[in-house]
Amino acid sequence: MKLEKKIILQYLEKAIEAREKAYAPYSNFKVGAVLVDENGVETSGANIENASYGLSNCAERSAIFAAASKGMRNIKIIAVVADTSKPVSPCGACRQVIKEFATEETVIILGNLKKEYILMTMEELLPYGFEL
Ligand code: THU
Repeated sequence: MKLEKKIILQYLEKAIEAREKAYAPYSNFKVGAVLVDENGVETSGANIENASYGLSNCAERSAIFAAASKGMRNIKIIAVVADTSKPVSPCGACRQVIKEFATEETVIILGNLKKEYILMTMEELLPYGFEL
């Protein structure tokens, strides 16, 4: 799917807003994500940490699990942002979780607070990802 720059910037802005809700007292590294599904429904998420560090949840998974719980099955666009010098690079676990609901059409926007971004397809983000 081809996206206009104006739309990309709008999703980056929404992800930056979602990032404000991050609960990251341990790492102090806030991440925000927003996705739009096959019905045009938008869902945002942020990373939610825990005193038992390993129980922390990434922003991408917060957004995807919230959306899937309400019926989302197909991600049209997902934007992820963090305060990084280059556009944020999602962790491997999140790449696999995005893949579960991605298609060849899915646009993955990786960005930072300066609104620098790169666009990726699922195949670029996770080549040869696991599937059954
Ligand atoms: N984090 C995300 O939210 N998404 C990623 O793709 C990578 C890492 C979060 C997890 C943790 O709360 C913090 O960033 C530092 O690792």
